[in-house]
Amino acid sequence: MTPEEFRSAGHDLIDWIADYRRELESRPVRAQVAPGDVARAFPAEPPDDVATIQELLADLDRVVVPGMTLVQHPMHFGWFPSNASLASVLGDLASSGLGGLGISWESCPALTEVEEVVCDWLRRLTGLSDGWSGTIHDTASTACLVALLAGRERATDHGQADGGLARAERPPAVYCTTQAHSSVKKAALMAGYGNDHLRIVAHDPETFAMEPAALAEAMARDRQAGLLPAAVVASVGTTATTAVDPLPAIVEAAAKERVWVHVDAAMAGTAMLLPEFRHLWEGVEDADSLSWNPHKWMGTILDTSLFYVRDVQHLVRVMSTNPSYLRSGVDGEVTQYRDWGIPLGRRFRALKLWFHLRLDGIEAIKDRVRRDLENARWFENQVRDAPEWEVVAPVVLQTVCVRHRPAGVDGDALDAHTLAWVERLNSSGRALLTPSLLADGWMVRVSVGVETTEHAHVEQLWSLMQAAATDRSLDPDSMVHIDS
Ligand SMILES: Cc1ncc(COP(=O)(O)O)c(C=O)c1O
Repeated sequence: MTPEEFRSAGHDLIDWIADYRRELESRPVRAQVAPGDVARAFPAEPPDDVATIQELLADLDRVVVPGMTLVQHPMHFGWFPSNASLASVLGDLASSGLGGLGISWESCPALTEVEEVVCDWLRRLTGLSDGWSGTIHDTASTACLVALLAGRERATDHGQADGGLARAERPPAVYCTTQAHSSVKKAALMAGYGNDHLRIVAHDPETFAMEPAALAEAMARDRQAGLLPAAVVASVGTTATTAVDPLPAIVEAAAKERVWVHVDAAMAGTAMLLPEFRHLWEGVEDADSLSWNPHKWMGTILDTSLFYVRDVQHLVRVMSTNPSYLRSGVDGEVTQYRDWGIPLGRRFRALKLWFHLRLDGIEAIKDRVRRDLENARWFENQVRDAPEWEVVAPVVLQTVCVRHRPAGVDGDALDAHTLAWVERLNSSGRALLTPSLLADGWMVRVSVGVETTEHAHVEQLWSLMQAAATDRSLDPDSMVHIDS
């Protein structure tokens, strides 16, 4: 494709994306396909003719869009906000169009230095001290793996430099609660700790936050038993209920054992843009690493996960390989991000953050986050005031965990009722919610925060939920009208 052909096809594609985003709200939220439907729409044999951009755009409409659950839809309240602001989409396109290669500072100095700048902007915007240095990983899962590798190596005094874990006299251990994201367990397994050395620390049954005394006891007991406490993952905003583990007590307990503290603020990091929410991560300055995802609530399109560390030298010692073909005359003067994580080749991810911050504006992003928090608070109050409805976890941010409990319905019957009404709502295509398990059974998470979700959409959701839970019609005429 020549630049002129690209220009023409690119205009068509941008028009198509703009139309798709403008008309998104009229589509069903949940994907309208059964397993295999999308794949069957493609020819089994690779086509040997050449398509036009118009043919591909028609296929996007015909095959791809029905196969998408529309997380940019204002009635999406499932999982978590996975916003893809159009400003960041433009940055992503610029990144692809530039076609840089991020394998060293020399291979693309701008890629490294824009990343340094935007990570530092976000550090300042979230009130972190200049003791932190940041990079952008693809996901919080990768960030957690890197953190657990760094923690393992600090605890074993760089054991990987000789025999690795196979020679470890004392197996290193990791600590978190059952409320930690599943990526923590995966990272612990991949970092070689082993399931037996992933220690589940008790949490408060009301707040779902880690019990720091239980952490201290677990580490002391393990040390006595010949294990090596190496890392703790504290969640600021757990996936199910956005619970916040108490960092001040956790970092204090960890410091006594010289244990690495990684703070997983994947979802809640966005709230730290607001000074009035920063008390939630009080104590973070004494942690060793932290990550959060602008690709969730803040809205910089996937994959944009910020990872900050305090001791860069240690991280680089753990992650660097330095083969001869990548050495250069400026080593020592510049940042080599390949030594801060797992992949060698890096995308120019910083551009989408830069475009997002500059084109949308920081104040507008903060206003939107405040709007979402207010909408969640309004929704919480509706649920608390409604008979037979309950809020089942403290509302810390924008996620409200609820249950509809008809009189006399309990246990398995209540679980069946919960799953049935959520499915009724989701299959209507009019909104999307995700159920989740707490210790006492299934509940429903209402995660507010899609860029286009206004107060009227939250009102609409509440009407739909009441109708779905009481088996009333989900007919549009019976609902609150949205003027948008
Ligand atoms: C608290 C928390 N940590 C980690 C993750 C994983 O994020 P990622 O998809 O960026 O790996 C999630 C995703 O939902 C999360 O909620």
